[in-house]
Amino acid sequence: MRIRSSIFTKLFSTYVLSSIAAFLIFSTVLYVLFQQDLKGDFLSTLHAQHEQVERTLQLAYEEGQNKEAIISTLGFNNDNSHKNIYLYGENGELLHLFSDSEEPLHIEQEFIEQALSGNPVNEFVNEKGHRIFLMVSPIESNTLVEFQEKVLVIALHGYDSVAKSIKGMFMLAGLITTIVATCFLFLVSKKLSAPLQTMNVVAMEYARGNFDRKVKVAGDDEIGQLGETLNHMASELASLDNMRKEFVANVSHDMRSPLTSINGFVGAMLDGTIPQQDQKRYLHLMKDETERLIKLVNDLLDIARIEAGQVSIQPQNYNISEQIRKLMAKLEPQLTKQKLEIEIQSNQDDDLYVFADKDRFDQVLGNLIENAVHFSPQKGIVTVRVLGIGREVSISIEDQGPGIPREELSHIWDRFFKVDKARSQKVGTGIGLSIVKHIIDLHGARIDVESEVGNGTTFSITLPMASKIAKE
Ligand SMILES: Nc1ncnc2c1ncn2[C@@H]1O[C@H](COP(=O)(O)OP(=O)(O)OP(=O)(O)O)[C@@H](O)[C@H]1O
Ligand SMILES: [Mg+2]
Repeated sequence: MRIRSSIFTKLFSTYVLSSIAAFLIFSTVLYVLFQQDLKGDFLSTLHAQHEQVERTLQLAYEEGQNKEAIISTLGFNNDNSHKNIYLYGENGELLHLFSDSEEPLHIEQEFIEQALSGNPVNEFVNEKGHRIFLMVSPIESNTLVEFQEKVLVIALHGYDSVAKSIKGMFMLAGLITTIVATCFLFLVSKKLSAPLQTMNVVAMEYARGNFDRKVKVAGDDEIGQLGETLNHMASELASLDNMRKEFVANVSHDMRSPLTSINGFVGAMLDGTIPQQDQKRYLHLMKDETERLIKLVNDLLDIARIEAGQVSIQPQNYNISEQIRKLMAKLEPQLTKQKLEIEIQSNQDDDLYVFADKDRFDQVLGNLIENAVHFSPQKGIVTVRVLGIGREVSISIEDQGPGIPREELSHIWDRFFKVDKARSQKVGTGIGLSIVKHIIDLHGARIDVESEVGNGTTFSITLPMASKIAKE
């Protein structure tokens, strides 16, 4: 079975291993340095003792004191370190030996000869598994008196036990440090990994479609930011999910109504409920319904293609004044039905030209004028203004409809958004303005909306003006 390593295990083991490695490196370096220092200490002790031996010998020789007695104090005065002292004559013969152990150390003759030839020897020698520090050095009398003693050997014990106790101290310090650091690192790893584990659980909930759970955000570090991002993602996903549900509901509803009427009319025609002479009128009604369906499907396909970035624009110079007139003409039947008046105003004598994608602008203006007509009251006036302002053309469509509440204005460009869902459910899906906004954005142009509840709405588009071209 494969054990899945959690982030906690990874963090914790990495921390512990790196702190142990750091401690080992640190203590090894320190131990090596300490050993060198200890060796230096031993050496300086031995040098001091060498000088003391020389002074003692001098005293004994010059003042004629009892040399044996004076020298015998040498080995055991001043300090209580465990040591052997040997004094050799000029032929390498042992003259004095002071030892506090029963079995004095055997000194290699080779060392004595080396010292007699003027070269001191500082060495560790192994004696029954213990290292003993040995200093074999020549004695030179610096007075008129010639000493008989020519070589001094001091064997200093205890190096190993000092080194061992230091090692023990290091190990104890290491053990305590490791225990304390492990506890600390355990807590740190838990603290770092706990929010990630919670986020994982919460993310799994999101994957199951439950967006209600939120991550508790603590701190503003990367983990805190991740928590915030996750919460933000959840609210975005929740609103997308709502939108999707609304979309399915809207689209199904918008498709079902015309399909139901078409189905009803066809059934009625087939079973003769609709008399022959009325059939044409019903066929017209069915045509209107199919056109509604076609518009809906086209809008859906359009928005899907635009949002997938599959739509590009082909701008050209064209007469926008004429385009507006043609659109009005198409709407004539509906205007008459609603007893609406439509006015086109311009501040120029001549038609105005813009540089834009003509077909896409048919969609833009068509949608805006359709909305204005649709939301206008009976006998209302829709005013379309085509104004040349500097090097720009401003097209505004104003109606006297119910207006849009201020707090809803920023949402009108969203897909499937409808201000009054109940009222406008019968017509439109809420895609029109979203398509308009996308097309305007593709042109790099601007669209503004001004609206007051009860006082109508005005949409204004600003486009760069194009010069009139001969071939229009
Ligand atoms: N001129 C207007 N007056 C008042 N409300 C408007 C106007 N134009 C748009 N709205 C509001 O904005 C919403 C979105 O408009 P949009 O054109 O995107 O959708 P629609 O007209 O409902 O459906 P369709 O997809 O057929 O255009 C409308 O449902 C309406 O509530
Ligand atoms: Mg619309």
